[in-house]
Amino acid sequence: MLEELRIGVIGAGGIAQDRHIPALAALKNKVTIPAICDVNQSKAEKVAKTFDIPYVFKEYEEMLSTVVLDAVVICTPNKFHADITITALRAGAHVLCEKPMAMTTFESRKMVKAAKKADKLLSIGYHYRYTEAAYMAKKSIQEQKIGDPLVTRIRAMRRRKVPGWGVFTNKELQGGGSLIDYGCHFIDLAFWLLNHPQPVEVIGRTYNRLSTTPNQVNEWGAFDYQTFNVDDHVSSYITFQDGSSLQFECSWAANIKEDEMHLSISGAEGGLSVYPFEIYRPQDNEYQLSEENADHNHNEDQAGERQISNFVNSCLGMESLLVKPEEALKVNQIIEAIYDSSNKGRSVRLENPE
Ligand SMILES: NC(=O)c1ccc[n+]([C@@H]2O[C@H](COP(=O)([O-])OP(=O)(O)OC[C@H]3O[C@@H](n4cnc5c(N)ncnc54)[C@H](O)[C@@H]3O)[C@@H](O)[C@H]2O)c1
Repeated sequence: MLEELRIGVIGAGGIAQDRHIPALAALKNKVTIPAICDVNQSKAEKVAKTFDIPYVFKEYEEMLSTVVLDAVVICTPNKFHADITITALRAGAHVLCEKPMAMTTFESRKMVKAAKKADKLLSIGYHYRYTEAAYMAKKSIQEQKIGDPLVTRIRAMRRRKVPGWGVFTNKELQGGGSLIDYGCHFIDLAFWLLNHPQPVEVIGRTYNRLSTTPNQVNEWGAFDYQTFNVDDHVSSYITFQDGSSLQFECSWAANIKEDEMHLSISGAEGGLSVYPFEIYRPQDNEYQLSEENADHNHNEDQAGERQISNFVNSCLGMESLLVKPEEALKVNQIIEAIYDSSNKGRSVRLENPE
């Protein structure tokens, strides 16, 4: 059994520098980072210097065939997630790949198969599951505090915050906009909380009218409205085999008063809201805030550290992965169904999404 993991980093951009490398570096007694790679080699060299990483590569294939690695963390644009994951798994490395798993269900399925064939771990960066608020919600549902979940509501709403950096508005490199980039976290969280119910029918509509109009106020930097070809606002309604349903809305650039981050579930015996965590149960024929009501909030840094810790401990055989690849594949199925429904202008059925 390994006692120390040699972990390589692929893609040296924002999420690698701000979340994953610091979280890995904090696990000094369990992890070393022997190598990093980025197609932008000077960026990789700069990051290697900052974090004291000995070897720098431009091509991930060369890194995987030159350095002995037990695992890799993949932080590239979405288009490259599937190919890099499959190559790394075949080279014998466990993989933590950033979200979304891939651009399509087809690619995601190939990743699940490759992990099975290589007998290596594959997890996806859905770190919202690791917040204290999410843990509390999961525990409450497992303890039957709200009974059978009936209606779930998601509002992942940013006001005038199209990411003006990186490639987030490039459909070819990302596969979509606000839904595949931001909404995916909430779909993953809801499905995990609900214990992965079987979706039956999805209706969705995507929009980008605001971001394709000139002279819009945007708080997160400049982007080119003339080449903007991804969604900035999405609504959807999803029904499940067990009779429950999910109302979904996400946006990067909504015309609303302020940002909203909302995930709530009404169950047969009570209800809960995740941000901040609150639980509501009927007492004396009235709904009251229960005593467990507490401000367990959404701490992204803590969630990022817990995510890396769970991945590292799982590779070392000390824990099981919280985010399993088959679950992340289901998020891609829903994303694809929403885009598909919007393109076709009608609902789509997911009879047998496996
Ligand atoms: N979990 C989260 O909340 C979260 C937040 C931000 C980004 N992300 C995800 O992380 C990924 C990267 O996002 P980012 O914000 O770091 O973007 P970024 O643009 O800052 O960094 C991406 C890096 O990948 C490099 N790259 C591109 N193609 C490559 C290849 N084939 N091989 C090696 N390197 C390559 C680029 O040169 C760039 O340095 C995306 O999939 C994004 O969805 C997740």
